[in-house]
Amino acid sequence: MKFNRLVLKNFGAFYGNNDFDLTTLNKNQNVVLFGGKNGSGKTTILDSLRIVLFGAFAFGLKTDSAVYLDKIEAKLNSKAKKDHQGFFQIILELEMVENLKRNQYTLNRGWSRQRTAIKESFVVFKNGRQLEEKEVELFQTKLRDETPPQLLEFCLFDGEKIAQVISKETLSSYLSQTAKVMFNLDLFESLEADIETYLKQEKVYTSLSQDEQTQLELEQEKNNLSSKRDETIGELESLEKVLDEKNSLYSDLNRQFHVNGGLEKKERDALVKKMSDIDHRRLTMMERNREILTSLFPFVLARDLIHSAAEQMEREAKADLKNEFVKTVSLETFNEILNPVSNEVNVTNELYKKITDLLSQDDIQPIHKASAVQRAEILNFYKQVRDFVPQSVLNDFKQNTQLIKEVQKIRKQIEENDASSDLKDLLEKLHLIQSEIASTQFRKEQMVVLLNDLTEQLAQKEQQYQTLKTKVMASKKMGHVFEIANKVSEVSRLFRDLQLKKKLQQVELEAAKMLQIVYRKELFVTRVKINPETFQLKIFDANQEEINIDILSAGEKQILLLSTVWAMAMCSKRRLPFVFDTLLGRLDQTHKKAILEQFIPRCGEQVIILSTDSEISPEQYSEFKSNVTHTYTIDFDTENLRVNKSTNYFGMENNYELSS
Ligand SMILES: Nc1ncnc2c1ncn2[C@@H]1O[C@H](COP(=O)(O)OP(=O)(O)O)[C@@H](O)[C@H]1O
Ligand SMILES: [Mg+2]
Repeated sequence: MKFNRLVLKNFGAFYGNNDFDLTTLNKNQNVVLFGGKNGSGKTTILDSLRIVLFGAFAFGLKTDSAVYLDKIEAKLNSKAKKDHQGFFQIILELEMVENLKRNQYTLNRGWSRQRTAIKESFVVFKNGRQLEEKEVELFQTKLRDETPPQLLEFCLFDGEKIAQVISKETLSSYLSQTAKVMFNLDLFESLEADIETYLKQEKVYTSLSQDEQTQLELEQEKNNLSSKRDETIGELESLEKVLDEKNSLYSDLNRQFHVNGGLEKKERDALVKKMSDIDHRRLTMMERNREILTSLFPFVLARDLIHSAAEQMEREAKADLKNEFVKTVSLETFNEILNPVSNEVNVTNELYKKITDLLSQDDIQPIHKASAVQRAEILNFYKQVRDFVPQSVLNDFKQNTQLIKEVQKIRKQIEENDASSDLKDLLEKLHLIQSEIASTQFRKEQMVVLLNDLTEQLAQKEQQYQTLKTKVMASKKMGHVFEIANKVSEVSRLFRDLQLKKKLQQVELEAAKMLQIVYRKELFVTRVKINPETFQLKIFDANQEEINIDILSAGEKQILLLSTVWAMAMCSKRRLPFVFDTLLGRLDQTHKKAILEQFIPRCGEQVIILSTDSEISPEQYSEFKSNVTHTYTIDFDTENLRVNKSTNYFGMENNYELSS
């Protein structure tokens, strides 16, 4: 298929009649280049190709529902609507080779507005003759079969979408879908489904044996489980996408919040707690000091008095002891005791005096008459008073002032936080996202559980099914309808697997070749490997060591995807135009040059490139212009609310337009 001409009438940003010649000369001059700044209408061109070809299907819808017409309504040019123009149209001229014959088609999809409702008309001309209603239907079915919307989707590269595929780790499922459609393997999937439907017809079903019926039911249950599992995987993928988005939104807002001095609830709570901790510490400390000041401090002032009281008590105690001794052992008793040793009274008298003097020499007037316990208490108290260091109380007072300041500072921070409404808004948003993340996370966990459960159930069913199948096969004579149908189904599945493996091997070779041409020299890929079951993509360097795809830059990942899908398109032998919308923005100069000069010329007969001036610069354009047949610059004129177009690339003429 090749596009020859596109006309947009009052569609999107395009007011009035906008006619674009899309013909390309040959494989060496295969490019139609649109230049346009952001918002100039590039993506509108890409969208209008989808819409004119597939109508509601372009949006993944099945019928011309109200949803579809709403979407169209939004795309009808608003100035034309205001001017009450009745005409909104996309016209596409294309050619297709059918049964070795080249046919020219003109597709004309138009909309008219009656009050609030809009109506669609779709007219098709084949080689100049308008097709009848029935023929148009046939044509549409054929178009959808041969160039399914999904398939075209893979050739219509939307830079934004590709960037998403790459960043969201959905590369494998993207490749799996591409391969299925590219290689027609979805046809076999539907054949297998058809066979199952056939077997389930009443008359066929009732002629089956009990085991056969059970086998059929098991197969159906298996398929149900399998599609539920696929759905779950799909949902998990999209939940992950949502989580990613929400998480990055959260960290953006969070950064913003903190840059502006905001406190999260957690942090605020922590500060409040810190404040009360400090207060508590401060109060305990001051309470202790208060006690000291009221109980001990007065005695500190009367320290000397207590000292003499303690000494007096000491002396009283000794005097008591002496008196006690004298009372118990009188001088006479003493002399008597010592009589056998010495009968010289002078000596023993002297000895007695020495002993009693040793006990106490004081002849004091008792004041306190304290008991031993009381004395010990007073002595102990005196020691406390003596050892008391006033500096420690002073230090505590200083520390108290310090702590009060600290608390005031924290209180101010909290008050400022609470008073700012911007921060409040941000905080509310943060909380909202946080709870959304939590519920998404919860949902994701549920899905994981469900997935595990389904996988397990599926494995069980598979086992039951295989056991029964072997039994049924063994008991059947050849030629029975059930057996034949099952065989066909099995052959189809085998064929599909084999075909996929074979095709993927070709794709691996082609993709590796392309990567060697396009990647910068240091990233030398010798081999590409695609797992036919998981569609996991692996690349290997010259030493046959795997290169971790995750560490590739966004641009390098994009090239990898581009080369792989390109390789699939090549191996599928389908001749489809490629459309690249804003695809080069993420590539550095070296890679951009390689894509323009090496990749594009290998993309077949027609490549439509929609580019901003920063993607393909004037210098790059001059290097590349020998590949270009037509150029356009589209520019949204904000004054007259319409797109102006010129036939050059941002003011630079092209060779073809000059010579013709
Ligand atoms: N129904 C409409 N009527 C008028 N202008 C529209 C309509 N729909 C979209 N636009 C305008 O078209 C422009 C978007 O074009 P788009 O194709 O996305 O640009 P690009 O891909 O070049 O960045 C925007 O400026 C938008 O305002
Ligand atoms: Mg765009």
